[in-house]
Amino acid sequence: MSEIRFDDRVVVVTGAGNGLGKSHAMAFAARGARVVVNDLGGSAFGDGASKSAADQVVEEINSAGGEAVANYDSVTYGDRIVECALDNFGRVDVLVNNAGILRDKSFHNMTEEDWDLVYNVHVKGAFKVTHAAWPHLREQQYGRLIFTASAAGIYGNFGQANYSMAKLGLHGLAQTLAIEGAKRNITANTIAPIAGSRLTETIMPPQIVEQLKPEFVTPLVVKLCHETHTGSGQLFEVGAGWIGKLRWERTRGHGFPVSETLTAEQVNDHWSAIEDFSDADHPGSGQEALMAIMANLQNR
Ligand SMILES: NC(=O)c1ccc[n+]([C@@H]2O[C@H](COP(=O)([O-])OP(=O)(O)OC[C@H]3O[C@@H](n4cnc5c(N)ncnc54)[C@H](O)[C@@H]3O)[C@@H](O)[C@H]2O)c1
Repeated sequence: MSEIRFDDRVVVVTGAGNGLGKSHAMAFAARGARVVVNDLGGSAFGDGASKSAADQVVEEINSAGGEAVANYDSVTYGDRIVECALDNFGRVDVLVNNAGILRDKSFHNMTEEDWDLVYNVHVKGAFKVTHAAWPHLREQQYGRLIFTASAAGIYGNFGQANYSMAKLGLHGLAQTLAIEGAKRNITANTIAPIAGSRLTETIMPPQIVEQLKPEFVTPLVVKLCHETHTGSGQLFEVGAGWIGKLRWERTRGHGFPVSETLTAEQVNDHWSAIEDFSDADHPGSGQEALMAIMANLQNR
Protein backbone atom coordinates (compact mmCIF):
# COMPACT_ATOMS: atom_id res chain seq x y z
CA MET A 1 0.00 0.00 0.00
CA SER A 2 1.05 3.62 -0.43
CA GLU A 3 2.86 5.30 2.43
CA ILE A 4 0.64 6.52 5.28
CA ARG A 5 1.24 10.29 5.31
CA PHE A 6 0.07 13.19 7.47
CA ASP A 7 1.13 16.14 5.31
CA ASP A 8 -0.96 19.23 6.16
CA ARG A 9 -2.26 17.52 9.29
CA VAL A 10 -1.70 18.85 12.80
CA VAL A 11 -1.23 16.22 15.49
CA VAL A 12 -1.30 16.79 19.26
CA VAL A 13 0.32 14.12 21.39
CA THR A 14 -0.02 14.53 25.16
CA GLY A 15 2.71 13.21 27.43
CA ALA A 16 5.03 13.12 24.41
CA GLY A 17 8.25 13.81 26.30
CA ASN A 18 8.93 10.16 27.07
CA GLY A 19 8.03 6.58 26.28
CA LEU A 20 5.03 5.90 24.06
CA GLY A 21 4.12 9.54 23.48
CA LYS A 22 7.60 10.38 22.28
CA SER A 23 7.52 7.45 19.87
CA HIS A 24 4.09 8.54 18.53
CA ALA A 25 5.19 12.18 18.10
CA MET A 26 8.38 11.19 16.25
CA ALA A 27 6.45 8.88 13.92
CA PHE A 28 3.78 11.44 13.02
CA ALA A 29 6.46 14.08 12.37
CA ALA A 30 8.44 11.68 10.18
CA ARG A 31 5.27 11.15 8.14
CA GLY A 32 4.79 14.85 7.44
CA ALA A 33 2.59 16.02 10.33
CA ARG A 34 3.13 19.22 12.27
CA VAL A 35 3.20 18.06 15.86
CA VAL A 36 2.45 19.60 19.25
CA VAL A 37 4.70 17.80 21.72
CA ASN A 38 2.92 18.26 25.04
CA ASP A 39 4.59 17.23 28.27
CA LEU A 40 4.48 18.55 31.78
CA GLY A 41 7.85 16.94 32.46
CA GLY A 42 7.00 15.56 35.90
CA SER A 43 7.89 12.26 37.53
CA ALA A 44 6.14 8.97 36.81
CA PHE A 45 4.17 9.58 40.03
CA GLY A 46 2.89 13.03 39.04
CA ASP A 47 5.36 15.17 41.00
CA GLY A 48 7.33 18.14 39.64
CA ALA A 49 7.50 19.75 36.21
CA SER A 50 10.21 20.54 33.66
CA LYS A 51 10.40 21.81 30.10
CA SER A 52 13.29 19.58 29.12
CA ALA A 53 11.30 16.43 28.19
CA ALA A 54 9.15 18.18 25.57
CA ASP A 55 12.05 20.39 24.40
CA GLN A 56 14.26 17.39 23.77
CA VAL A 57 11.65 15.65 21.60
CA VAL A 58 11.00 18.84 19.62
CA GLU A 59 14.74 19.19 19.10
CA GLU A 60 14.96 15.59 17.83
CA ILE A 61 12.03 16.11 15.45
CA ASN A 62 13.39 19.40 14.12
CA SER A 63 16.88 18.06 13.61
CA ALA A 64 15.41 15.15 11.63
CA GLY A 65 13.76 17.70 9.31
CA GLY A 66 10.29 17.57 10.89
CA GLU A 67 8.11 20.32 12.35
CA ALA A 68 7.11 20.41 16.01
CA VAL A 69 6.40 22.78 18.85
CA ALA A 70 6.66 22.14 22.57
CA ASN A 71 3.87 22.68 25.08
CA TYR A 72 4.43 22.27 28.81
CA ASP A 73 0.90 22.50 30.19
CA SER A 74 -0.69 19.79 32.23
CA VAL A 75 -3.44 18.00 30.31
CA THR A 76 -5.76 19.30 33.03
CA TYR A 77 -5.36 22.65 31.18
CA GLY A 78 -6.32 21.01 27.88
CA ASP A 79 -7.61 24.23 26.32
CA ARG A 80 -4.08 25.71 26.42
CA ILE A 81 -2.70 22.67 24.57
CA VAL A 82 -5.28 23.00 21.80
CA GLU A 83 -4.65 26.78 21.71
CA CYS A 84 -0.96 26.01 21.18
CA ALA A 85 -1.85 23.91 18.11
CA LEU A 86 -4.11 26.64 16.73
CA ASP A 87 -1.64 29.47 17.44
CA ASN A 88 1.31 27.67 15.86
CA PHE A 89 -0.27 25.59 13.12
CA GLY A 90 -3.81 26.97 12.65
CA ARG A 91 -5.70 23.72 13.18
CA VAL A 92 -5.88 20.37 14.94
CA ASP A 93 -6.66 17.08 13.19
CA VAL A 94 -5.39 14.29 15.39
CA LEU A 95 -5.25 14.08 19.17
CA VAL A 96 -3.45 11.25 20.92
CA ASN A 97 -4.43 11.24 24.59
CA ASN A 98 -1.39 9.55 26.07
CA ALA A 99 -0.21 11.47 29.18
CA GLY A 100 -0.24 9.33 32.28
CA ILE A 101 1.07 8.71 35.77
CA LEU A 102 0.83 5.96 38.36
CA ARG A 103 -0.06 5.98 42.04
CA ASP A 104 -0.07 2.24 42.68
CA LYS A 105 -1.23 1.05 46.10
CA SER A 106 -3.48 -1.72 47.32
CA PHE A 107 -7.03 -0.41 47.72
CA HIS A 108 -6.66 -0.83 51.47
CA ASN A 109 -3.81 1.74 51.47
CA MET A 110 -5.07 4.02 48.71
CA THR A 111 -5.84 7.58 49.73
CA GLU A 112 -8.39 9.89 48.19
CA GLU A 113 -5.44 11.95 46.90
CA ASP A 114 -4.05 8.88 45.04
CA TRP A 115 -7.49 8.34 43.53
CA ASP A 116 -8.05 11.98 42.53
CA LEU A 117 -4.58 12.51 41.07
CA VAL A 118 -4.83 9.50 38.76
CA TYR A 119 -8.39 10.45 37.79
CA ASN A 120 -7.34 14.06 37.10
CA VAL A 121 -4.42 13.25 34.80
CA HIS A 122 -5.93 10.34 32.86
CA VAL A 123 -9.66 11.01 32.73
CA LYS A 124 -10.14 14.71 33.41
CA GLY A 125 -7.01 15.50 31.40
CA ALA A 126 -8.19 13.53 28.35
CA PHE A 127 -11.61 15.15 28.74
CA LYS A 128 -10.14 18.66 28.86
CA VAL A 129 -7.92 18.30 25.79
CA THR A 130 -10.56 16.46 23.77
CA HIS A 131 -13.33 18.85 24.79
CA ALA A 132 -11.21 21.83 23.69
CA ALA A 133 -10.42 20.17 20.33
CA TRP A 134 -13.98 18.92 19.72
CA PRO A 135 -15.59 22.12 18.30
CA HIS A 136 -12.72 22.46 15.80
CA LEU A 137 -13.04 18.82 14.73
CA ARG A 138 -16.81 19.22 14.32
CA GLU A 139 -16.41 22.44 12.37
CA GLN A 140 -13.89 20.96 9.91
CA GLN A 141 -15.82 17.65 9.77
CA TYR A 142 -12.69 15.68 10.45
CA GLY A 143 -10.83 14.32 13.43
CA ARG A 144 -8.96 11.31 14.71
CA LEU A 145 -8.83 10.66 18.48
CA ILE A 146 -6.85 8.08 20.41
CA PHE A 147 -7.36 7.20 24.06
CA THR A 148 -4.75 5.19 25.94
CA ALA A 149 -6.22 2.52 28.19
CA SER A 150 -4.47 -0.42 29.83
CA ALA A 151 -4.82 -4.13 30.45
CA ALA A 152 -5.20 -3.10 34.10
CA GLY A 153 -8.50 -1.46 33.17
CA ILE A 154 -9.70 -4.36 31.02
CA TYR A 155 -8.77 -7.17 33.39
CA GLY A 156 -8.01 -5.48 36.74
CA ASN A 157 -4.61 -5.52 38.44
CA PHE A 158 -3.58 -5.72 42.07
CA GLY A 159 -2.58 -2.30 43.42
CA GLN A 160 -4.13 -0.35 40.53
CA ALA A 161 -7.74 0.34 41.55
CA ASN A 162 -7.40 4.05 40.68
CA TYR A 163 -5.55 3.41 37.41
CA SER A 164 -7.92 0.59 36.33
CA MET A 165 -10.92 2.85 36.89
CA ALA A 166 -9.34 5.65 34.87
CA LYS A 167 -8.16 3.46 32.03
CA LEU A 168 -11.42 1.66 31.33
CA GLY A 169 -13.26 4.96 31.84
CA LEU A 170 -11.34 6.33 28.88
CA HIS A 171 -12.67 3.56 26.66
CA GLY A 172 -16.22 4.38 27.75
CA LEU A 173 -15.56 7.98 26.74
CA ALA A 174 -14.09 6.90 23.39
CA GLN A 175 -17.08 4.68 22.59
CA THR A 176 -19.54 7.52 23.09
CA LEU A 177 -17.39 10.03 21.17
CA ALA A 178 -17.30 7.49 18.33
CA ILE A 179 -21.11 7.64 18.23
CA GLU A 180 -21.35 11.43 18.64
CA GLY A 181 -18.58 12.10 16.10
CA ALA A 182 -19.70 9.63 13.43
CA LYS A 183 -21.70 12.10 11.33
CA ARG A 184 -18.76 14.49 11.19
CA ASN A 185 -16.01 12.02 10.30
CA ILE A 186 -14.54 12.10 13.80
CA THR A 187 -13.30 8.71 14.99
CA ALA A 188 -12.28 7.72 18.51
CA ASN A 189 -10.37 4.53 19.23
CA THR A 190 -8.64 3.09 22.29
CA ILE A 191 -5.37 1.26 22.67
CA ALA A 192 -4.28 -0.82 25.64
CA PRO A 193 -0.50 -0.89 25.12
CA ILE A 194 2.37 -2.66 26.77
CA ALA A 195 5.81 -1.12 26.44
CA GLY A 196 9.03 -0.61 28.29
CA SER A 197 8.95 2.88 29.85
CA ARG A 198 9.32 4.76 33.13
CA LEU A 199 5.92 3.39 34.11
CA THR A 200 6.89 -0.25 33.63
CA GLU A 201 10.63 -0.27 34.44
CA THR A 202 9.91 -0.76 38.14
CA ILE A 203 7.78 -3.87 37.58
CA MET A 204 9.55 -5.62 34.69
CA PRO A 205 13.05 -7.06 34.33
CA PRO A 206 15.40 -4.68 32.46
CA GLN A 207 15.85 -6.99 29.43
CA ILE A 208 12.05 -7.17 28.92
CA VAL A 209 11.74 -3.38 29.30
CA GLU A 210 14.46 -3.06 26.66
CA GLN A 211 12.70 -5.46 24.27
CA LEU A 212 9.18 -4.02 24.62
CA LYS A 213 9.92 -0.99 22.51
CA PRO A 214 7.25 1.75 22.27
CA GLU A 215 7.96 1.63 18.51
CA PHE A 216 6.03 -1.66 18.44
CA VAL A 217 2.90 0.23 19.60
CA THR A 218 3.12 3.40 17.52
CA PRO A 219 2.35 1.89 14.07
CA LEU A 220 -1.16 0.95 15.28
CA VAL A 221 -1.73 4.52 16.49
CA VAL A 222 -0.51 5.89 13.15
CA LYS A 223 -2.81 3.55 11.21
CA LEU A 224 -5.86 4.38 13.38
CA CYS A 225 -5.23 8.12 12.96
CA HIS A 226 -4.99 8.17 9.19
CA GLU A 227 -7.81 9.71 7.18
CA THR A 228 -8.37 6.40 5.34
CA HIS A 229 -9.13 4.55 8.58
CA THR A 230 -12.80 4.97 9.46
CA GLY A 231 -13.22 2.27 12.14
CA SER A 232 -14.29 3.86 15.42
CA GLY A 233 -15.13 3.05 19.03
CA GLN A 234 -12.79 0.09 18.98
CA LEU A 235 -10.32 -1.27 21.49
CA PHE A 236 -6.98 -2.90 20.69
CA GLU A 237 -4.34 -4.58 22.79
CA VAL A 238 -0.88 -3.90 21.40
CA GLY A 239 2.74 -4.55 22.31
CA ALA A 240 5.88 -6.54 21.49
CA GLY A 241 4.90 -6.46 17.81
CA TRP A 242 1.50 -8.08 18.45
CA ILE A 243 -1.85 -6.38 17.81
CA GLY A 244 -5.33 -7.74 18.56
CA LYS A 245 -8.83 -6.33 18.78
CA LEU A 246 -11.27 -6.78 21.66
CA ARG A 247 -15.08 -6.83 21.72
CA TRP A 248 -17.83 -7.58 24.19
CA GLU A 249 -19.05 -11.15 24.43
CA ARG A 250 -22.39 -12.03 26.02
CA THR A 251 -24.00 -15.37 26.66
CA ARG A 252 -27.37 -16.11 25.04
CA GLY A 253 -28.63 -15.95 28.62
CA HIS A 254 -31.99 -17.17 29.84
CA GLY A 255 -35.29 -15.36 29.50
CA PHE A 256 -37.81 -15.84 32.31
CA PRO A 257 -41.55 -15.38 31.73
CA VAL A 258 -42.47 -11.77 32.51
CA SER A 259 -46.00 -12.82 33.44
CA GLU A 260 -44.65 -14.40 36.65
CA THR A 261 -42.77 -13.03 39.63
CA LEU A 262 -39.05 -13.67 39.18
CA THR A 263 -37.29 -15.13 42.21
CA ALA A 264 -33.62 -15.52 43.16
CA GLU A 265 -34.23 -19.30 43.30
CA GLN A 266 -35.29 -19.31 39.63
CA VAL A 267 -32.14 -17.33 38.76
CA ASN A 268 -30.12 -19.92 40.67
CA ASP A 269 -31.86 -22.81 38.84
CA HIS A 270 -30.89 -21.37 35.43
CA TRP A 271 -27.41 -20.21 36.40
CA SER A 272 -25.63 -22.55 33.98
CA ALA A 273 -27.57 -21.07 31.01
CA ILE A 274 -26.86 -17.52 32.20
CA GLU A 275 -23.12 -18.32 32.28
CA ASP A 276 -22.95 -20.50 29.17
CA PHE A 277 -20.71 -18.87 26.57
CA SER A 278 -21.26 -21.52 23.87
CA ASP A 279 -22.93 -19.85 20.87
CA ALA A 280 -22.19 -16.46 22.48
CA ASP A 281 -23.46 -13.15 21.18
CA HIS A 282 -21.29 -10.08 20.38
CA PRO A 283 -23.48 -6.99 20.62
CA GLY A 284 -21.85 -4.13 18.74
CA SER A 285 -24.03 -1.32 20.07
CA GLY A 286 -26.34 -0.40 22.93
CA GLN A 287 -29.33 -0.86 20.61
CA GLU A 288 -28.22 -4.36 19.61
CA ALA A 289 -27.64 -5.26 23.25
CA LEU A 290 -31.07 -4.00 24.25
CA MET A 291 -32.92 -5.93 21.54
CA ALA A 292 -32.43 -9.32 23.22
CA ILE A 293 -33.55 -7.89 26.53
CA MET A 294 -36.65 -6.16 25.17
CA ALA A 295 -37.62 -9.26 23.15
CA ASN A 296 -38.16 -11.06 26.43
CA LEU A 297 -41.14 -8.77 27.16
CA GLN A 298 -43.02 -11.15 24.80
CA ASN A 299 -42.05 -14.14 27.00
CA ARG A 300 -45.30 -14.65 28.88
N1 LIG B 1 4.10 1.44 29.22
C1 LIG B 1 3.11 0.55 29.32
O1 LIG B 1 3.30 -0.67 29.32
C2 LIG B 1 1.70 1.04 29.42
C3 LIG B 1 0.69 0.10 29.64
C4 LIG B 1 -0.62 0.52 29.66
C5 LIG B 1 -0.90 1.85 29.51
N2 LIG B 1 0.10 2.76 29.34
C6 LIG B 1 -0.27 4.17 29.20
O2 LIG B 1 0.45 4.74 28.13
C7 LIG B 1 0.63 6.12 28.37
C8 LIG B 1 2.10 6.49 28.20
O3 LIG B 1 2.84 5.87 29.22
P1 LIG B 1 4.39 5.54 29.12
O4 LIG B 1 4.53 4.13 29.54
O5 LIG B 1 4.95 5.98 27.84
O6 LIG B 1 4.92 6.42 30.36
P2 LIG B 1 5.98 7.62 30.46
O7 LIG B 1 6.05 8.00 31.91
O8 LIG B 1 7.22 7.27 29.76
O9 LIG B 1 5.26 8.79 29.65
C9 LIG B 1 4.15 9.49 30.14
C10 LIG B 1 4.39 10.96 29.92
O10 LIG B 1 3.24 11.70 30.35
C11 LIG B 1 3.70 12.90 30.93
N3 LIG B 1 2.69 13.45 31.83
C12 LIG B 1 2.31 12.97 33.04
N4 LIG B 1 1.37 13.74 33.58
C13 LIG B 1 1.12 14.73 32.68
C14 LIG B 1 0.22 15.83 32.65
N5 LIG B 1 -0.59 16.07 33.67
N6 LIG B 1 0.21 16.62 31.56
C15 LIG B 1 1.05 16.38 30.51
N7 LIG B 1 1.93 15.37 30.49
C16 LIG B 1 1.96 14.56 31.56
C17 LIG B 1 4.95 12.51 31.67
O11 LIG B 1 5.78 13.63 31.93
C18 LIG B 1 5.58 11.51 30.72
O12 LIG B 1 6.51 12.11 29.83
C19 LIG B 1 0.08 6.39 29.76
O13 LIG B 1 -1.25 6.87 29.65
C20 LIG B 1 0.07 5.03 30.39
O14 LIG B 1 -0.90 4.91 31.42
C21 LIG B 1 1.40 2.38 29.30
